[in-house]
Amino acid sequence: MSFTATALTGSKPEQYAQLVEQARALMHGERDRIANAANLSALVYHALPELNWVGFYFFDGRELVVGPFQGLPACVRIPLGKGVCGTAAATRQTQVVPDVDAFPGHIACDSASRSEVVVPLFLGETLIGVFDIDSPVPDRFDADDQRGLEALARAFLDTL
Ligand code: SME
Repeated sequence: MSFTATALTGSKPEQYAQLVEQARALMHGERDRIANAANLSALVYHALPELNWVGFYFFDGRELVVGPFQGLPACVRIPLGKGVCGTAAATRQTQVVPDVDAFPGHIACDSASRSEVVVPLFLGETLIGVFDIDSPVPDRFDADDQRGLEALARAFLDTL
């Protein structure tokens, strides 16, 4: 398999549309979740500016356990309801956190992280895990980023 990620162009929504297309091509025909999570993390980490951590936590039936990612080593286990990741999983709502220091219970893995988005991953009623994206820049993520990152998460879920 050969894959070339071409540079993203146009408006932010257009760039996310291109990135989602690249993600779907990258994962096409593959159902292994570790493989797809690893490649999607690498794709997003290198395609988008100002990120210091991109990756997955998977639900093991009890809590969230770190999966494939790009960035510095991270905390391994996060209970549901704890931190930004546990909150996204417990509420089923994407968490957009402009200032991680102002988020009650935020779990600092990489002290460089200033803002964060966590998209919960559900297949129907079943919690699969979360997709977590961190930035060293405060207030890095807007509504376009939320929509784009949710579309990338959906592309991942569609492979399962
Ligand atoms: N900050 C996250 C923990 C995971 S790291 O950012 C990779 C949280 O509060 O859930």
